[in-house]
Amino acid sequence: EQIEKGGYDHFMLKEIYEQPSVIKDTYRGRLHANKGMIQMAGVEDNIDKFTNANRILIVACGTSWHAGLVAEYIFEEFSRIPVEVEYASEFRYRNPIIYPDDVVIAISQSGETADTLAAIKLAKEKGAFVFGVCNVVGSSISRETHAGAYTHAGPEIGVASTKAFTTQITVLTMMALRLAKAKGTMNTSDYQRYLLELELIPEKVEEALQTNEVAKMIASIYKSAPNCLYLGRGYNFPVALEGALKLKEISYIHAEGYPAAEMKHGPIALIDEHMPIVVIAPKQNHYDKVVSNIQEIKARSGKIIAVVTKGDTQVRALADHVIEIPDTAEALTPLLTTIPLQLLSYHIAVMRECNVDQPRNLAKSVTVE
Ligand code: G6P
Repeated sequence: EQIEKGGYDHFMLKEIYEQPSVIKDTYRGRLHANKGMIQMAGVEDNIDKFTNANRILIVACGTSWHAGLVAEYIFEEFSRIPVEVEYASEFRYRNPIIYPDDVVIAISQSGETADTLAAIKLAKEKGAFVFGVCNVVGSSISRETHAGAYTHAGPEIGVASTKAFTTQITVLTMMALRLAKAKGTMNTSDYQRYLLELELIPEKVEEALQTNEVAKMIASIYKSAPNCLYLGRGYNFPVALEGALKLKEISYIHAEGYPAAEMKHGPIALIDEHMPIVVIAPKQNHYDKVVSNIQEIKARSGKIIAVVTKGDTQVRALADHVIEIPDTAEALTPLLTTIPLQLLSYHIAVMRECNVDQPRNLAKSVTVE
């Protein structure tokens, strides 16, 4: 097992560090930035199904559901198709409305999650085209879907999902761009800019991994906190949910993710000098709004840990701690903002002497209800 961990203390840490290379694996044969092209066999073969779709329904559980939420923002923005993201467990039990021209995308690392599998069967019975985004080759979900795209993240052993999440987002982003091209919903220069920006993501993830030391230092300060709040807007709202889930899963600290603007409708009541609040605040649309959210937290003495774009000065002046990530296109920021949040929860869990790779009560894949 020590050899399999490749010199890392835990599988989770190894998998966090594998992200630059597995994202490249996910691109292989698909992303051709120099030719202005994205090619994904499962999408090409069914391009009409996608372009004629009136709606995309995404079904998933856990971290995969969070990747689905990121995809909702990306598909709607790039390809102008309405997207609904559903917990597979809720979807399957409420006689959902599914039209034959709906495309259902099922996201699953293991490809074995019972609720997701059942949701797929239901969608197929109702005549929808079902596309799988799975990591495990030959898994039940990959066999049960009409077509699909593998994430190529390699085996993920740590129960808390890390590289599976970022590669799911990578696949879904490429799909959204491919559809944008097919539907003409994005102009050529933006499309080309995104392709080039995607190519740079692995090296930017590498750079984001250099936040390890600062994440560790912040972990040492807040490791005993009983609660933690994660806030983000837009593309980074699902990242806030995922950051909170990661902390809950492996460190057993109660954490909640919220859209930053919703803070005033509840979570703000929790803020005092004992509450650490992770705010995802890269330079993008609504940056000023996030800055004002940070001011509101500061006025209530909350402890602010901000994830910002390199060179940021405005948030730095307000926050207790900043973690800098490289700049990229707004829609691609989740691939970078996620990284320090993974590291932060990892270090907190280690410092609390938790079983990082196999947290209590959790299973890597939930094959029963
Ligand atoms: C379990 C795992 C999570 C995972 C979820 C969905 O809860 O602990 O890490 O996100 O199942 O699994 P899937 O394999 O369908 O992505």
